[in-house]
Amino acid sequence: MNGWVGNPLVITQAGRLSPTPCLESNHTVFLEQNHVHVWFTTFSQFSSSLDMFTRTLNPAESLKMSRFATEHLRVRFACAHGLLRLLLSRYADCLPGELVFSEGSHGKPVLVGAKGLSFSLSHSGEGVAIAVARDLDIGVDIEEIKPIEDRSSLVERFFSADETYSYKALPPSVQETAFFRLWTRKEAFVKGLGLGLSHPLDSFSVGVDVPVSLAGHDSSDWSLHHLEPGHGFAGALAVRSHQAALYGGFLQLTGLHARASDEQKKADK
Ligand SMILES: CC(C)(COP(=O)(O)OP(=O)(O)OC[C@H]1O[C@@H](n2cnc3c(N)ncnc32)[C@H](O)[C@@H]1OP(=O)(O)O)[C@@H](O)C(=O)NCCC(=O)NCCS
Repeated sequence: MNGWVGNPLVITQAGRLSPTPCLESNHTVFLEQNHVHVWFTTFSQFSSSLDMFTRTLNPAESLKMSRFATEHLRVRFACAHGLLRLLLSRYADCLPGELVFSEGSHGKPVLVGAKGLSFSLSHSGEGVAIAVARDLDIGVDIEEIKPIEDRSSLVERFFSADETYSYKALPPSVQETAFFRLWTRKEAFVKGLGLGLSHPLDSFSVGVDVPVSLAGHDSSDWSLHHLEPGHGFAGALAVRSHQAALYGGFLQLTGLHARASDEQKKADK
């Protein structure tokens, strides 16, 4: 397989994303049919890459970035979307700034003219996750695990009866982690569907265990997968397939920079 120096590793049922360095070259990444690659990383790695990322954004993305109220949020947006462009350009074999996105009716971003490449983006706290597939609908979600004051009311408001029952039956010491597992699983599914929060969250049920169960309207074609990004995050991946093979890891930026400098050289001409 052309392109990998450090291959993305198989994601086992336990969902661990290996910290092994990956993407050490600037070759095009080959993605097989029915394979999903899931990358997780933290914004702190990007402090020196901000200008580079900002330069790859298109006018609409730059405008969206400028509308955030704080510098911190603007930087996060630029990093997440700059990294998304950089990573997807490795799969689409083009320069980051050449990628064209459009939006589904409920805001799901899709790549235009990229030969079936699909992706999903999630950011929370200092973490960012990007899933990439070919000819498969996918949704990824991560959440930073942290205390939430109104956790019980969120459970009552958004979880299905089955989920609420399972959650309440757990010892209080594990309820926080269970909440974020359930939440990311639910969000991954509605992001996979492309409907986001317009899809009623209590209209389907996800399990709290591993492997993850999924039941409810329009869910039979889908599988849900537990992700364990580490670094204090919960995560989940939804795939419209029961046969998908999952690969991924903790993204290191060394190799990605090579393509970014290509982009820079082109922009400087
Ligand atoms: C998609 C949604 C579930 C995101 O959840 P979140 O945990 O807050 O945020 P995440 O970081 O995990 O995901 C955000 C990314 O999902 C993607 N996204 C946006 N809408 C999406 C949709 N309908 N389906 C799939 N992905 C979507 C975008 O890439 C977005 O990144 P960006 O905000 O930097 O452009 C939620 O924001 C949503 O439903 N948005 C649609 C609009 C909507 O219904 N608003 C009502 C709010 S009450």
